[in-house]
Formats: sequence, structure tokens, C-alpha cells
Amino acid sequence: MNDLRNAGKYYWHYLKRYWRGFIISMLLIAFSTWCIVVAPTYLGRAVEQLTTYLQQWSSPATRGQASLTPFNHTLIIYILLYVGDASTIFISSLILARVTAHSTGTMRVGLFRKLQRMKVQYFDTHSDGDILARFTSDLDNIFNAMNQALLEILLAVAQFVGLLIVMFNQNVTMAWVTMASTPLALIVAAVVMRKAGVAVNQQQDDIGKLNGYINEQITGQKVLITNGLQQDSLKGFAGYNAKVRQSALTGQIWSGILNPLMQGMSLLNTAIVIFFGSWFALNGSLSTGAALALVVVFVNYAQQYYQPIMSLTSLYSMIQLAITGARRVDEVRNQPEETNPARGHEMPAIQNGLQIDDVHFSYVPGKEILHGVSIDVHRGEMVALVGPTGSGKTTVMNLMNRFYDVDQGAITLDGTDIRQFDLQSLRTNVGIVLQEPQLFTGTIADNIRYGDPQAGMDRVIDAAKQANIHDFITSLPAGYDTRVSDEQSVFSAGQKQLMSIARTILTNPRLLILDEATSNVDTVTEARIQAAMDNVIQGRTSFVIAHRLKTILNADKIVVLKDGQVIEQGNHQALLAENGFYAELYRNQMVFD
Ligand SMILES: Nc1ncnc2c1ncn2[C@@H]1O[C@H](COP(=O)(O)OP(=O)(O)OP(=O)(O)O)[C@@H](O)[C@H]1O
Ligand SMILES: [Mg+2]
Repeated sequence: MNDLRNAGKYYWHYLKRYWRGFIISMLLIAFSTWCIVVAPTYLGRAVEQLTTYLQQWSSPATRGQASLTPFNHTLIIYILLYVGDASTIFISSLILARVTAHSTGTMRVGLFRKLQRMKVQYFDTHSDGDILARFTSDLDNIFNAMNQALLEILLAVAQFVGLLIVMFNQNVTMAWVTMASTPLALIVAAVVMRKAGVAVNQQQDDIGKLNGYINEQITGQKVLITNGLQQDSLKGFAGYNAKVRQSALTGQIWSGILNPLMQGMSLLNTAIVIFFGSWFALNGSLSTGAALALVVVFVNYAQQYYQPIMSLTSLYSMIQLAITGARRVDEVRNQPEETNPARGHEMPAIQNGLQIDDVHFSYVPGKEILHGVSIDVHRGEMVALVGPTGSGKTTVMNLMNRFYDVDQGAITLDGTDIRQFDLQSLRTNVGIVLQEPQLFTGTIADNIRYGDPQAGMDRVIDAAKQANIHDFITSLPAGYDTRVSDEQSVFSAGQKQLMSIARTILTNPRLLILDEATSNVDTVTEARIQAAMDNVIQGRTSFVIAHRLKTILNADKIVVLKDGQVIEQGNHQALLAENGFYAELYRNQMVFD
């Protein structure tokens, strides 16, 4: 029921702006219901008039009076009523189709916008496949249900209301008798819907997990092949698939049971009406004939009474999927967003420097990763962050860009906490080359000007030259217009790395962070990246995270992180002299170089 209420809120949020469409559809549907109800009486009249005509015509005495005109009139009205019914239904289905297309379009845009405002944490903790399932499977379910069920729902409501009016007009007591089984039906429906809801929720979550798995396996295809793990991959898939199959089956059984149950309720209802109706006929004030006629009429109504409910229950699994879809999409809509200070000011040029002051941080509460890290950077300095894998280097970078916020302590720029800066301003002034370079669909030029789409070609080329990738790009047949498609693999890791460096150079950031720019590239490329880095770092305050100590020998300050703590800092010479962790690390690497 909670889900139902939330789904109601969700749909109301998107549908309320189309209230005019709904009112018009409702009126049209009411009209069509009226046509349907009234039409049979005209049919009766037409039969009567035709009979009269034939009788008059067959006897010579009255043949002169015989006229088909009344019959024709009635027939025309009858046909018009059916045309009216069909066309109003058609028009309202058009209106509702429009409402559906527009509102699901808005939902999709809303969901995508929301993704752009969400915390990095969400993406770190949810699989891409699951996020994708919310855009595809869940939004599709919502669309399908709205497309097919909306009209049915409105029709059912109109039918139901129409029937209530007619019943109470005929006989109030019998109308109440007909409605007597409603509470029981409601309870039965609620129980079954609850069961089905749980199963369908489970089903959609399982589909999300399955998608996550498929996504992971496709991205990791090469690892699978090289390790000969295809069979294991299949086994894993079978497990996720079996879960989806099981929950889908359970959901279908519970949803499917609803319609027969309601048919049973309808039979029960008919029995009640017959029983009470007869009792009423025998003991009431009505003549037996009239009472029997009443019973016959109400037996008819009793059968119709559950009709709208039954037509809704036959759509139930679709509706349940839409309710679940709303929950899953709404879950995303309710995620916390990045906190942007209300009156955040622009991040100013760095005057003195940046201070990381006794920062404690944990991704998962209770599992602290950084234990009081303090680093001082002066303007224009290059600081190198070194340390074993998992020591927290990337984490420090995540905090400077506010991908995550510190738990304790602060990061300040000339004494101002970075959380006081406007987020947008902070992000444009802090340039990061991520550990894993990412290219987007478009041309190479588009990729380089990604951070500033307005940038002209001269700036793109300038950035590429500084990043030492210009010569490579011009050697390609299409040069800067070479398309970067989904198959990013046509570029080597080093080339992608250099393109991301060019992208960052173009935005001309005040604070620059390079995370492992020279990971897994050959020594020639490393030298190029090194040269590119030297270009970018010139006159900028920068953080360089590196495993290859060769690249950071001339850093102004080297900070050694281990297990989330700064264990040594100083320049290369000083740290060598100290003969500690860094010195050992350095000597070990020199053996290979
Ligand atoms: N999104 C996350 N959620 C939870 N824990 C995380 C997350 N990202 C990293 N960690 C944990 O934080 C610790 C530090 O990770 P971090 O990425 O900062 O290491 P690193 O020093 O950059 O390592 P590397 O040299 O391999 O890049 C690790 O123990 C890691 O398991
Ligand atoms: Mg890292």
C-alpha cells in the first residue's frame, strides 16, 4: 500500500500538468458510456417500429399508412450513438496517448537531469547495469502501462459510476445488497495485490542485478577470455537469470490469480442478489411480478458490478510493473544531491596556497580510510603524492574536487573552506586527469573541448600541442575530426591519457590534479606525458599522484601516504637523506630502470 501511495504521488507529479486532457477525456468517456447505455433502448424501439411497419404493410387495409420513416429515424440515431461511442473513445485515446508520450518523455529527462546532480557515491555503489535498467526496463513498464491501462482505468471508473447511478435510481435497497460483498472483495484484492507487489518489486530488482551482471561481463569480456572463464560467466548468468525467472513467475501467479478471484466474487455477488432479491420479493410490498422483474434486473447489475474491477485486474500485472517502476525511478529521484552552498562564492585565484588540515574520511561509516591527513601546498608548487596501492591517494583527490566531503578536518584555500565555494566554480577551477581516462562519443576535437564546448579550434590545437598529442592527431586521416565511437579501444591507453590531459589543459584550471597519468605506458609515451605534464604544471598549483617515482623527482614536495596517513614529506633529496619508506621505494624502482 505504501508503494501504491508513493506511485500515486509519483504519477501525480508528472500527470497533474495534463489535468485538462484528463478532464476532456473523462467527459468524452462519460459521453461514450452514455451512448453505450442508451443505444440498446433505440435498438428495441427500432425492432418495434419495424414490426409495426411490416404488420401494417402485410395487411391491404392498412398498407397505405405503413411508413418506414420512424424506423429510419430511430436507426439513424442508433447508428449515430455507436459512431459517437467509437469516435469519442478514439479521440480520448489520442489525447491519452499524447499525455503518455509527453509525460514519460518528461520522466526520462527528469531522471537524467537528476543523475547529473547526484553524489559520486551513488555511482560508486550502484552498478551501471542497474542504473541503466531504471532508464530502460522501468521507464518502458511505466510507458506501456500508461499507454494501455490509462484508458481502461478511465473507462472502468466511468462504467462503475454509471452503474452506481443506474442502480440507486432503480432501487436503493437492492443497490446496497449488490454492493454488500465489496468490502470482502477489497480485502481479497488487497491481500493478493500485496503479495504480487512484493514479487514484482523483487522481479524488477533482480532484473537490475541481472543487467548489472551482463554489463560487467561485457565490459570485462577480454579478462574473461584471457582467463578462460566463459563457462563460469555462464554459470553466474544462469544464477541471476534463475532469480529473475523465479520472481517473475511468482509475480505472474499472484497477479494472475486476481482475475479469477474477482470472477468468483462476481458469482458470489450474483448469488447474494438472487437470495436477497427473492426474499425481498416474497416479503416486500411489491407485487410478485414487479419484484421478480427487479430481481432479474439486479442479477444483471450484479454481474456487471465486478466488470470494471475485473477489467482492471486483468491489467493488474502491467499496473503492478508500473507501480514498481515508479518506485525504482522515484528511488533515484530521492537520492541526495551534491551539496552546493546556498550563497557560494566564486573560487578566487590562489593567493597563498591550499591546506589539507587533519582530514579524516570514510567511504563507508565506521571504516575510516584517511586518518588525519595534513598537506600544505603553496601557490605554484607541485606536490607529489606517492604511496602503496590503496593508501588513499585517489581518495585525497576525490576530496579536493568534492566528489566526497571530509568527515572531520577541512580543506581550505587561502583560509576559506572549499565547501563554501560554488560547486560549479570549484569544479571548473580544479582540473583533474582521472586515473582511468574517459573519452566520449564525438570527434577528437569535441573530446578535447569537452570542458568548454565554446572553445575555438585554435585553443583545441594549442591544448593538444601542450599535451604532446598534436602530431599523433594530425597523422590520423581525419585529424581532429576523427570520430571517437564506442570502440574507444582504437586509441591506446597512452593516447587516451594524453587526450584527457589536453582536455584538462584547455579548461585552464587553477589547481591541477593528475592521478597516475603515466600508469601502464611505455617509456617513450611516458616521456611524452612527462613533457606534457611539465607544460601543464608550469605556473600552476598542482598535485601529481604517481607510482613511477621518476616522474616526480623534481616535485617541490613529495608526500608519502601509507594506510591513510602521511608518513613522510619533503623534497626528493630530503626524503632520500631521511632514508625511510620513500628512500626504499626509490631504490627498489631504480633497480628496474
Ligand atoms: N568508492 C569507494 N567506496 C568504498 N571504499 C573505497 C572506495 N574507493 C576506494 N575505497 C577504499 O579506499 C582505500 C583507498 O583507496 P584509493 O583509491 O584512495 O587508493 P590509491 O592510493 O589511489 O590506490 P592506487 O595507487 O591503487 O590508485 C582503499 O582501501 C579502497 O578499498
Ligand atoms: Mg588511485
